[in-house]
Amino acid sequence: MSHQDPLAIDRKAAPFDKYKGVRRLEPGRSGHESRSHVRHHLYVGTGRDNPVQVLIKVTSKPGLVYERDLDNEIATLQRINDGLPDSHHFPFVYEHGHLDDGRRYLVMSLFDEFPLSTMVDTEPDPGRLVTHLIAAIAIARPLIDMHGLGIFHVDLNPMNILYRVERRRPVVRLIDFESSYDSSRHGHGAFYSPPTTPGYTAPEVARQPPDARADVFSLGAVLHTLLTGDLWVGQEAIAPRVAADETLDDELRDVLLKAVAPNPARRHASVDRFRLAMETYLERIWPGRSW
Ligand SMILES: Nc1ncnc2c1ncn2[C@@H]1O[C@H](COP(=O)(O)OP(=O)(O)O)[C@@H](O)[C@H]1O
Ligand SMILES: [Mg+2]
Repeated sequence: MSHQDPLAIDRKAAPFDKYKGVRRLEPGRSGHESRSHVRHHLYVGTGRDNPVQVLIKVTSKPGLVYERDLDNEIATLQRINDGLPDSHHFPFVYEHGHLDDGRRYLVMSLFDEFPLSTMVDTEPDPGRLVTHLIAAIAIARPLIDMHGLGIFHVDLNPMNILYRVERRRPVVRLIDFESSYDSSRHGHGAFYSPPTTPGYTAPEVARQPPDARADVFSLGAVLHTLLTGDLWVGQEAIAPRVAADETLDDELRDVLLKAVAPNPARRHASVDRFRLAMETYLERIWPGRSW
């Protein structure tokens, strides 16, 4: 089958033969214009033997340049699956390989949750401050877990966080590990030149290896997006916008400014510290609640 036509997959060949109902992931689901039509294509299906829902990510062309980022995602997810075997916050890698035409593929868990970007209100809603803080605190937890393995996401943004509230408890999934930095591999010379998202990826990533503070920056940008309701203003420098945001009270503005500081040395030193600052603020404005 030709790789020119992204729909042209051979359902009788691996890996598609192991899954039924294979179809493209509906574009509406991603909550944004996906870059996927350029770099990869996404299919969903259900296992024939093991009835799990899977997402199949296939590079759009064969070749090293296209494979590199997907290889990185596969290696990082496998380390996370090994290091955090009980965590339900990350996709599980079922299998990976190459199609006959040379394209690289990854089969992983498909989650029901939708991207946080689909939840961003178009109008800022001060009444939802608590809801948004609870989301940011919930997102911090799996980040802290993966940082414990020496892995940093680096491209955290509202499209790469899936989120749902079930019986008042947040469900968080972190996806898209193509830009991730794994100290155990990249700290020892593995090539690293990740795709990033303007406004959400920490600025220093362009010139130095990232650490936990890169994800502190991105989580701060995500929280400010939730608070302002504007998904794409993030393309401009965020710190001056937070500083000028009069809808924030002083305490929350300081917590956020310390997250999105352009200089990583001025940020919260870890996601855990940032989380503590958000929890302290939330406890003050909403004391004693069971969040
Ligand atoms: N495991 C998954 N479960 C559910 N939805 C997913 C999953 N992985 C990706 N998606 C959806 O597909 C979109 C694009 O996938 P992603 O891995 O982020 O690639 P890219 O951003 O490079 O196109 C995501 O924003 C999300 O909406
Ligand atoms: Mg993505």
